[in-house]
Formats: sequence, C-alpha cells, structure tokens
Amino acid sequence: MKSNPKFDEFCCFLNYTTLTQKSTRKSDGSDNRVWTYTMAQDPTPPLTPDRLQALNSIPCEEAPSPGYVIHMDRLEANCQLLQSVAERSGAKILLALKGFACHSTFPMLRRYLSGTTSSGLHEGLLAHELFGKEVHVYSAAYKPSELTHLNRFAHSLVFNSANQLAKGIEILGNSRKAELGLRVNPEYSEVETELYDPCSPASRLGTTRAALDKALSNLPEKLLNQLHGLHFHALCEQDADALEHTAEAFEKKFGDLIPGMKWLNFGGGHHITRPGYDIDRLCRTVQYFRDTYNVDVYLEPGEAVALHTGVLIVTVLDIVEAGGHQIAILDSSATCHMPDVLEMPYRPSILGAGQPGEFPYTYRLGGMSCLAGDVVGDYSFAAPLSPGQRIVFLDMSHYTMVKNTTFNGVPLPAISLYSSDSGLNTVKTFGYEDYRNRLS
Ligand SMILES: Cc1ncc(COP(=O)(O)O)c(C=O)c1O
Repeated sequence: MKSNPKFDEFCCFLNYTTLTQKSTRKSDGSDNRVWTYTMAQDPTPPLTPDRLQALNSIPCEEAPSPGYVIHMDRLEANCQLLQSVAERSGAKILLALKGFACHSTFPMLRRYLSGTTSSGLHEGLLAHELFGKEVHVYSAAYKPSELTHLNRFAHSLVFNSANQLAKGIEILGNSRKAELGLRVNPEYSEVETELYDPCSPASRLGTTRAALDKALSNLPEKLLNQLHGLHFHALCEQDADALEHTAEAFEKKFGDLIPGMKWLNFGGGHHITRPGYDIDRLCRTVQYFRDTYNVDVYLEPGEAVALHTGVLIVTVLDIVEAGGHQIAILDSSATCHMPDVLEMPYRPSILGAGQPGEFPYTYRLGGMSCLAGDVVGDYSFAAPLSPGQRIVFLDMSHYTMVKNTTFNGVPLPAISLYSSDSGLNTVKTFGYEDYRNRLS
C-alpha cells in the first residue's frame, strides 16, 4: 500500500494522544460533554521509524541472552538533544542515576550533561568515582555517617524536611562544604498512577508549606537563610505543560522563599526525548524562573536520558499449553529483569510482534521464576515460536538494570554496548558468584 503522509501524520498524532470525554453538568442538570485531546501517559511512547531502525540494526543473535544492549548512537542522540535544551534554556541537566546507571556509558554522557543526581551514598559514590562533574544528592532521610561522607564530594545535599535540614547543619558543622537544598511538595500533580505520584496529599516526599511553617516554629530562627536551593519533583513521563502547571503551583506556595536562593531544581519526570515533547514550553518555563529570580535551574531526568536506546534480548526455552494459552517460557523474568512491567504495570513492545491476534500465532510470554504472575504479556507473531528462538524487548535501558534482582537465582542479564562504528561490545556478564555474593 502506498504511504499517505497525511494519514501517517494522523496515526502518529493518535499514537501520542488520548481522546477523553469530559462530562460536566449544566445548571439545568443536562450533560455537557466535551472531547479533549491530552498527551498520553503511555510509558513506552511508540518508536519513530529511525529509532526502530536503529534498535533493529543491533546484531541480537551475537549478544548474550538474557542481555541488555544499549545503542550508543541513540543514547548520544538523546544527550545531544538534552544539551541543546540546556544551551537554549540555560538549565543545567543532570542524569538521575536511579533511572540509568550503566557506568560504561558515562565517558560519553559526561560530555553532554552537567553531572548527576543521586539518592544516597552509594549512588553518590558511583557518581563521584565514575562520572565526575557536579554530584547532587537528595535522600528522604540521611544517616549522620552518610552525610559526613557525602559532604566530602557532593555539590549539593537536598533535605526532605526542615528537621532533616536542621540536623544536617548541626552534624556537618564547620566542615560543611556542600550547598544545601530543601525538597518541597507543591501539592500539585498531574501524575495519574498513585505509585508514581510524589505529590499526593499523604506523600512523604518533600515538605508541604504547612508542614514547613509548623516545623519552623520549633527550629532555630533563620534556618532557611542557610539554604542555597529549593527542589521539587512532581512529574512522571510528562510533557512541559505539566511542568509549567507544577511550577506555577510551586511559585504560588513557595515564591516568597525564592529570592535569596542560588538555584531551583525542577526534579525529573520530564520526557524531553519523547517524540513530540514541547521543548519550547520547557525552555520558556526555565527561562521565566532564571530571569525573574536570577537563579540557576536544574533538571534531573533519568528516563529521558535513556529513552528508546536499548533492548533486552531473551531466548525461548520451552512452550507449554495451559488454560487455552500457548505459553512461551523465557530465559528471563518480568519480576527480575523488567520489574516495572509488573509494578506499573505496562506491556513492553517486542520487535516484530503485535497485539494478540494481530498476527497468526499468539503466545503468552512468561518468566522462569516461581512467581505465578511472572508474565510479561500476550503477543502475536508471524511465525510459530520455538525453543532456542530469540525475542527482543524494546526500550529496556531505563529502570531495568538498576532494579534487577536475582530472585530464584535467576541470572542477571549481561550488558553490551552497540554502535554503528564499533559494533557489539559485551561489557559485563554475571555468573553464580554475583548471586552468591549478595547473600551470606
Ligand atoms: C527526586 C527525583 N529526581 C529525579 C528523578 C528521575 O525521574 P525520571 O527518571 O522520571 O526522569 C526521580 C524519579 O523518581 C526522583 O525521584
């Protein structure tokens, strides 16, 4: 069939948007329905043809299975886009290590990004040892020993409450080197999944204005004078409209504290490298705060750095039949190797596979652990699957290798890098010792 550019454009639009019907009651009691298009919150936005082609070019048969392969050219393209955002907006962009910490890629990443953000001592040490540049840290709570260690090399330490801030200042005393920040909760969020909403009314992450004011009444006067920055993290896989709205809410609640700050940190969750992301709006929002308050602005994406840059290669070990399903057992596991599939939950895409029934042969793909629900999802294929055959899960770089477990002794996937210039390079394999050494 000849491609119709208008039709392709329309399909692309539908892929990235959701049509929702908002129903409001008129004063006479009748329904007033309005159809609105909103940005989809699909955790795996469809790959554009060039991204798909890049991942398809990885020589998957040559890589270990199970194994992640990071496409370095795609990772560099994401970093170049982030660098251009930094140049246009003046924002400093940090890699959130919680999302992507594949440190064999750090020599390339550090050419484009200002540094990293860590969630505590171990990520901080990794950042200091292997990434360099600016090392920022936020933790929901610090142990005194962690604080003193981090203070030796951290650029900033962000505290979760006024009490933690006061305690931190006391612990560090005159040896304090790091700049100090406070994470606040703007109590505004457009995140629909509760598990990922850091700004819900009962969230423990960040201090609300009411909690801050209450805590300050029992703390040394001028505590906030010691602060260098304010931090909020309220987004998850979102576009710049959500950032703009959240930043407005932040300014309403905490605007009086901004003068005198050196920096603001707008957290992560910015899906900047997603096709169709509104970069102009992001830049406008950053520039507004930089110009109005004369502050530096940090963004700390994890997912956007690694979005659409890697695959997980697995092998079919057996096919069983149960409950009317053909079930392929893989040498991998949702719970061990792609836990967000079960936590979020979502259904990752597979190279060359479709929705159940779309192609002639439909299978349920299951993991090798004992967990009954260790199921990735139902997929259809053009040809029957058979033991020994490989399957390639798409978009598997972020929140996978950082979250892996060896539950059931399931081996950890190898890690390989691929680039069109250097080909495939397996940088890490795991064995029995890795399982044994985590236990004692
Ligand atoms: C404080 C903070 N910063 C940054 C991030 C990175 O978010 P993302 O990977 O969605 O960009 C997170 C993710 O949970 C976070 O909690």
